[in-house]
Amino acid sequence: MVKVPEEIKEMLEKQAIGRKVPISTCSEDVPNVIYVGFIKMHGDEEVLIGDNFLNKTRENLEKNPRLSMILYDPGIKKSYQLKGSTEIYTEGKIYEEAKKEFIESRMKRSDKYPTEAAVLEKYPIKSVVLVKIEEIYDSMGKVGAGKRIL
Ligand SMILES: Cc1cc2nc3c(=O)[nH]c(=O)nc-3n(C[C@H](O)[C@H](O)[C@H](O)COP(=O)(O)O)c2cc1C
Repeated sequence: MVKVPEEIKEMLEKQAIGRKVPISTCSEDVPNVIYVGFIKMHGDEEVLIGDNFLNKTRENLEKNPRLSMILYDPGIKKSYQLKGSTEIYTEGKIYEEAKKEFIESRMKRSDKYPTEAAVLEKYPIKSVVLVKIEEIYDSMGKVGAGKRIL
């Protein structure tokens, strides 16, 4: 695993607030890309993704537990690609903590969801995907784009 630099951690948190981080998975077929908003750092080397609606993504991860994501901050004009291996949790400490945080943040963001049950009715938390970050690439469009930095 690699330690994700502070700047990249901040980019991830910021992009998650906008609820749009593209993540890509693949079994042996065509790569599958989706947006996720329920995504956060877990310590310095891991990322957690909340599975509310994952279908093809989950199937892919069960066959091939590898995932890529892309970050871009137009303010600072930086972009990074993060790649890693995944574990899927449907119970236990990691699952319960992520679920609690997701429910609390949903309840805070909107009064449409005044209770835990209201959040879960709209956004069931089927599983939590833990991504162990193993490679980071500089993806900004410039000479040297695509270079592995960590
Ligand atoms: C802006 C946006 C944010 C989304 N965030 C999540 C999320 O955090 N978790 C989730 O399970 N699905 C989320 N989705 C749904 C997925 O992008 C996707 O539609 C779902 O995983 C089904 O696609 P799949 O069959 O390729 O996995 C989001 C969709 C959009 C448009």
